[in-house]
Amino acid sequence: MATIGIFDSGSGGLSVYRELIKVLPKEQYHYFSDNAHCPYGEKSPLYIRRRGRYITEFLLDKGADIIVVACNTATAAAIAALRADYPDVPFVGMEPAVKPAALGTQSGVIGVLATAGTLKGSKYLNTRGRFEDDVTIVEHVGQGFVEQVETGILDGPEAESIVRASLEPLLRAGADTIVLGCTHYPFLQPLIERLSGPGVRVIDPAPAVARQTVHVLEQRGVPTGQGPFSVQLHASGDPSPLNRIFSLITHE
Ligand code: DGL
Repeated sequence: MATIGIFDSGSGGLSVYRELIKVLPKEQYHYFSDNAHCPYGEKSPLYIRRRGRYITEFLLDKGADIIVVACNTATAAAIAALRADYPDVPFVGMEPAVKPAALGTQSGVIGVLATAGTLKGSKYLNTRGRFEDDVTIVEHVGQGFVEQVETGILDGPEAESIVRASLEPLLRAGADTIVLGCTHYPFLQPLIERLSGPGVRVIDPAPAVARQTVHVLEQRGVPTGQGPFSVQLHASGDPSPLNRIFSLITHE
């Protein structure tokens, strides 16, 4: 049985957790929400790296064999430093799904929704650079999305007006594919799809990250699949937002 540590600035990483348990249903999970420090989107890379180290220590203390950085912003700011500081620990990070979007678009325009930190990070800029000769890439920060997801209210007039404001510029630019570049955003995916209309495909990278986690565990020879399954939730702040989203995904 593998012990899998997962962290995010808040509850967003549960969108990765719900994919992980599909492919690794018999492991022991520890999920850490750093909601006392949420959102990460506008924080400095140095700040996020410090938080990443603190949380890594916490998860290693819980016996983590692998750490899934279920946060695009923390991946951009901290995963390279964490790999350097903990060379024996495997880390799996997030990657905005620009490649499948670029391969699948019919209009030649793809939209990326992410935080400011992710859009400024070298990881994203490199990925963007690989595809921008072939397709037009338009970006927008999902302004207020993280805070909205943390409230647990994923639809209704307020969520709708927040989502519409950041989504419309991408649709106006002709995007037929929207990449969700922040792990909180998949919780708004049904709303994003409804507002986008039937001709638009929305891509959540979480299933690919879950498959990559399986691959890394195999590579490292960590035994999996023996059970029993368990999950423990940890939060640096008020645990209620995390419990709310967790109960939503367990009733899906
Ligand atoms: N879930 C984080 C991400 O994937 C949210 C960032 C934030 O806290 O602003 O980027």
